Amino acid sequence: MEMNNNIDAILISEEDIKNKVNELGKRINEDYKGKDLLLVGVLKGSMVFMSDLMRAINMNVKIDFMCVSSYGASTKSSGQVRILMDLRSPIENIDVLIIEDILDSGVTLSYLTEVLNTRNPKSIEICTLLDKPSRRKANVNLKYRGFSIPDEFVVGYGLDYNEDYRNLPYIGVLKTEVYTI
Ligand code: IMP
Ligand code: MG
Repeated sequence: MEMNNNIDAILISEEDIKNKVNELGKRINEDYKGKDLLLVGVLKGSMVFMSDLMRAINMNVKIDFMCVSSYGASTKSSGQVRILMDLRSPIENIDVLIIEDILDSGVTLSYLTEVLNTRNPKSIEICTLLDKPSRRKANVNLKYRGFSIPDEFVVGYGLDYNEDYRNLPYIGVLKTEVYTI
């Protein structure tokens, strides 16, 4: 499949992503100075963002991953969240930063923070590359936001439609004729 042919427009360029990731890395460095930080990546969408972000942080961090159920072959959330893969280690008394690709309805992240909070971390915060504030249904406390974007379905830089387009190096808007709602 020729990925680029199915993209309507580039919403965020590689260059803009790179600058933003460096900016976020700097803020995280300052905010967590002297602390032991655990980055928790939400699979699979956050993997590209997380791998760049962790290298923009110049203090030591540990990483872990969780996998939660996603939309499947649809662009709308089912409203149901399931943990498909849990963290490897306990997070009691640890500073945790959840890394997510996009905050949409907020259902995923509000559920995730609720679950992780019961494990008594020292702190728990959220860093998302993208935010679609107009679609929020659940209340989510966001500490780090890369970009606020309009209500359009986007792919690339880790984000998928039906498991495709994750390896596009930019964030693009998918042509509407490509997907079925
Ligand atoms: P929420 O629970 O509605 O906030 O959904 C968050 C998850 O939905 C993200 O982690 C993505 O996997 C997926 N998602 C939401 N909007 C988009 C989009 O525009 N493109 C690709 N995936 C999306
Ligand atoms: Mg995701």
